[in-house]
Order: sequence, then C-alpha cells, then structure tokens
Amino acid sequence: ADSLRTLASHVGLRVGTAVNTDKLAADTAYAGIVADQFSTVTAENVMKWDTIEPSRGTENFGPADQLVSFARAHGQLVRGHTLLWHNQIPGWLTAGVADGSITSSALRDIVRRHITDEVSHFRGKIWQWDVANEFFTDSNPSTINPNDFWVSHLGVGIIADAFRWAHAADPHALLFYNDYNIAGEDGSNAKSDAVYAFVRQLRSQGVPVDGVGDQGHLDTQYGFPTLLTQDLRRYTAAGFKVAITEADVRTFVKTTDASQTPTDSLATFAQPYEYSQMLKACLAVRDCLSFTVWGVSDADSWVPNTFKGEGYADIYDVNLNPKAAFTAMQQDLSLA
Ligand code: G3I
Repeated sequence: ADSLRTLASHVGLRVGTAVNTDKLAADTAYAGIVADQFSTVTAENVMKWDTIEPSRGTENFGPADQLVSFARAHGQLVRGHTLLWHNQIPGWLTAGVADGSITSSALRDIVRRHITDEVSHFRGKIWQWDVANEFFTDSNPSTINPNDFWVSHLGVGIIADAFRWAHAADPHALLFYNDYNIAGEDGSNAKSDAVYAFVRQLRSQGVPVDGVGDQGHLDTQYGFPTLLTQDLRRYTAAGFKVAITEADVRTFVKTTDASQTPTDSLATFAQPYEYSQMLKACLAVRDCLSFTVWGVSDADSWVPNTFKGEGYADIYDVNLNPKAAFTAMQQDLSLA
C-alpha cells in the first residue's frame, strides 16, 4: 500500500511526525520512516528555548538546522515548536528571574530577542510556528493560567507580543496558538470555548494569529473525541487555520514490559479507532492543514516518562513495525 504521505498528498493534507534529531542522525531505519511516510516534521525538542540558548547569549541552532535540511531534502514542510512555553525554559533564565538578577523589563527584552532571533534564523523555512503553547487552565471555566511562568512575570499581554514579534521576523510563517484538550472532548468544552474566545479577541485587536493547533493527546481510558469535527469547524468558521499537532493515544501497559503491550486488550481496538476519529475530523474540515503524530514509535514516546504504567501511544511499535493505528490511518487517507 502507499505511504501515508503519498495518500495524504492526494487529498491536500500534510501528515507529520515529531522528530528526535539524535535518532534521525543515528538510526537509519528511523530516518527512513520519517522520510518515506511523512510530509511535515516537527522538532520534538530542539527548537525549544533550552536547546536553542543553553547558556545566556550562546545560540545552538545546529540540531534544528539539521532537521530543517533533512526536511528540505525530503520535500517536507516544518512546524516550528515552540517559542513561548512554561516548560524547557533555560536554567539561566529561571535562575535569573528567581534571584532577581533578571527584572521584569529585562525579561520582556529577553523574550523579544529570543523570538526575534529564532524566527529570523529560520525565516522562510518554517510553515507553521507554535508561537504560544499551553497557556490555559484545565478547569471549568478555563482561563489563561495566572500562575503560568510568563503570565505571572509579564502579564497576559506577552502572548500577543509574542505573535507580533514572530510576525515581524517572518511575515510568511503561519502563526499558531497550540494547546491540548481544546477540541473534541465530549462533556465540558470549557477550554475549547476559552481558547476560541481568546484567539478571536487577539484577532480583533489586530494581533497576527493564523491558526489553532489541537495537540490531540488522547488516552483510551477517557471518552472518544466525538465533538472534534464541530470544534475544529468553529475555529475555521472564524477564519483560523487548524492542525492536529501532537496526536497520540496512550493506554495502560505493564511498566516492566519494554514492548509496551496493552494490559487491556480492548485498547488494541480503541487506539486505531481514536486515531481514525482524529484524522477523519481533520479530513472533514477544509483548513485543517496537517495531522502530526507525536513521535515515530512507542520507543520514542514521552508517555512512559510522564504517565507511569501507560504507553503504546504511537503508530509504530518499539521495533518500528507499523501498528493497527498506522493501517487505520492508511485506510482513512485512501478513502478520503
Ligand atoms: O536533554 C536532556 C539531557 O541532556 C538529559 O541527559 C536527559 C536526562 O533526563 O534529559 C534530556 O531532556 C529531556 C528532553 O525531553 C530531551 O530528551 C527531558 O528530561 C524531558 O523532560 C523532555 O521531554 C519532552 C517534554 O516535551 C518536556 O516537556 C518530550 O521529549 C517531548 O515529547 C514533550 O513534548 C511536549 C510538547 O512539546 C508540548 N505538548 C506536550 C508534549 C508532551 O509532553
């Protein structure tokens, strides 16, 4: 059967993965899958601030540049991830804020310089930038988290400024707000409502926001994303592009089982079904630009490190064999 990227190209969709650049350089089987199956790539970590500026004033674009070159060589578009997030901030920065040696006004200048330098460095090479990542609370109602590192030190206006600075540095890149649980949840859609209101407000103020990324981190123990199509359409009806940016579907596994076999056999049905629901929702929404899976294989996944006793979240197994979720995606794309 055809590759995911070939099938997706027939329907004008880009299908992607998050890339571990160490593996890309070291593992030819891994690199082969990235090249053959995907038409967009995201740096899983190396475009985040702690990698880009490990010590103050020292820039480290090398690993990200390698990914950008790989993408160019393989006809892939790059999602830039991510400019402003509470995680993976350099240690020198958090230490300086904590000990008062970096004041608020200095911090604002540091953020402006970071965004300007990074976006300028990649100008013309990034398709979509995740400018701001995970600023909303999971509560109902959902709000911008007042305790977020950036918001607590610089106020909510830093988010709008981040978009303005990114746009000034690369006027052609599509600028996204990216978050999880902001589309598709049955039950409460409080976070989706809050993000929807926020991006519309930004736009009404002339802030250059082009799109909303729904990460798509699902878990088989929770419900299906039944409202995903409708929630994505609400954003696109308001003039925003959307993308599924970090899809994966985790389930329970034995922590001692390196192959991450699900402990509940139903998960082997639920997982491909949930991938399918996410992909079909994106396919059903004109202006859903890309569908990115977070990591190539279960061996690469962030899940076992974060959720003890969960795993099996990706579409290839730990030995790089395609799973049922891969076949489901192939089928959905070929029928689209
Ligand atoms: O780079 C260091 C290395 O020097 C050190 O020796 C090693 C020891 O643990 O850690 C390495 O850093 C790790 C980094 O990944 C690179 O491998 C961090 O500990 C680890 O926490 C980090 O995890 C990443 C996580 O974001 C951090 O928040 C995951 O790989 C990455 O998949 C995950 O991605 C996020 C998205 O960016 C945003 N949405 C949620 C998603 C899942 O958490």
